[in-house]
Amino acid sequence: MQTETVYLNGEYLALADAKISVMDRGFLFGDGVYEVIPAYAGKLFRLEDHLERLDNSLKSIRLQNPHSHEQWRTILSPLLKNGQDQSVYLQITRGVAPKRDHAFPQKVTPTVFAMVSGITPHSDPDNGVKAVSMEDSRWKLCDTKAITLLANVLLRQAAVEQGCAEAILFKDGYLTEGAASNVFAVIDGILVTAPKSPAILPGITRDVILEIARKNDIPSSEQAIAKADIQKASELWITSSTREIIPVVELDGEKIADGKPGLVWKMFYKLFQEYKQSLR
Ligand code: PDD
Repeated sequence: MQTETVYLNGEYLALADAKISVMDRGFLFGDGVYEVIPAYAGKLFRLEDHLERLDNSLKSIRLQNPHSHEQWRTILSPLLKNGQDQSVYLQITRGVAPKRDHAFPQKVTPTVFAMVSGITPHSDPDNGVKAVSMEDSRWKLCDTKAITLLANVLLRQAAVEQGCAEAILFKDGYLTEGAASNVFAVIDGILVTAPKSPAILPGITRDVILEIARKNDIPSSEQAIAKADIQKASELWITSSTREIIPVVELDGEKIADGKPGLVWKMFYKLFQEYKQSLR
């Protein structure tokens, strides 16, 4: 299949031919959910976990999943290029309604869309990225992977305009996550991350990292992390399906430790690559 081939409502089409109505509730209201699933060597990574999170997101917005997990696998697989590392984006909206009305329309078929793009994991052991801390201005459904991402967009853009790769978010003085990532820190030798709650997206990469830590007897903890704790971190990472594990070496203009990716990141980078290889 061509790189530009996408899936839309039962058909595989060239990207340029994939069109939806301006009455789609995704377009008018941001009324939909999505998933981003990495595929390594053409094989979908932790697909069941992503589909379970999709089920939870759909339940949260009271939309029925139009497909079984098996059907999803069948739909997504033809989009993948043999042997390549890619990420699949899939989106389901509440569909095209006859008129614009906030309340749910009756008997409307959801719009289902999927496309693939490249993955660029951070592999440079000598350099990391800069981040900036910001007040988490988002809503109370951050555990729903909703397409309604305006707050995340504005936060990420503000970070980019300050020369940073990510906005690290704090709510009431406590770490939540990044604008499009989860956040880990190494504090007093322990790998810590915020606990699952409606304030964060339960990242699949986050789960994998915690599993790797447990398997390798590396001390880790899911706990409330105050902003003052982050200031004494020896390492800070952002994690996501498209960026894997990225070391943050500067926060708010201050170096973290010596301003280089830390030893724990180096170890996890290696363990994460080994885990990926083991699934091929
Ligand atoms: N975002 N938190 C937020 C707000 C996110 O948007 C993401 C990922 C994550 C990490 O989740 P995971 O490890 O399952 O990718 C956490 C995707 C990549 C995106 O919106 O493109």
